[in-house]
Amino acid sequence: MNNDFDKLRELITRKLESTDISTRSLASKVDISKLARLVIASKEAGKNAYAPYSNYQVGAAVLITDDEVIKGWNVENQEYSSTICAESAAIARLNPNQRGEVLAISIFAQSHPSPCGSCRQRMVELGNDFLVIVADDKGELELYSSKALLPDWQLNKE
Ligand code: THU
Repeated sequence: MNNDFDKLRELITRKLESTDISTRSLASKVDISKLARLVIASKEAGKNAYAPYSNYQVGAAVLITDDEVIKGWNVENQEYSSTICAESAAIARLNPNQRGEVLAISIFAQSHPSPCGSCRQRMVELGNDFLVIVADDKGELELYSSKALLPDWQLNKE
């Protein structure tokens, strides 16, 4: 696990050098060690997944400003369309006062996960822009801003 931690710190530092300014500024609100620990938390969360249909276990970990980490994992169903994704499961566990207080979300799977449209929408509806880390067991890691994952979205209050 320590090995994981050092590798992740290095990977995140390297990625930050080539990422866009808005993602970098979101990442700068949290220290690298905390981000590395968040990725490890999402990896651990994925071990709880119930994914007998896809065999693709996903874990998510949400970092809230007061240092709290909320975890979630995917839960599948024979009626596959009612599957709950890891990041949605984690978001559903947030208290109302934690919405808008998110610093980062890490999503982890055995190979590069890509958040689905509903999850992108749920993330952006949390209110504030935050760092999204997508990582996998092969050592790939990407950094995004939550808003960039769903461009042009705005709350329709009609
Ligand atoms: N999945 C997630 O939980 N999060 C993602 O970001 C990508 C996909 C789940 C849904 C389904 O249980 C399995 O991964 C395969 O798509």
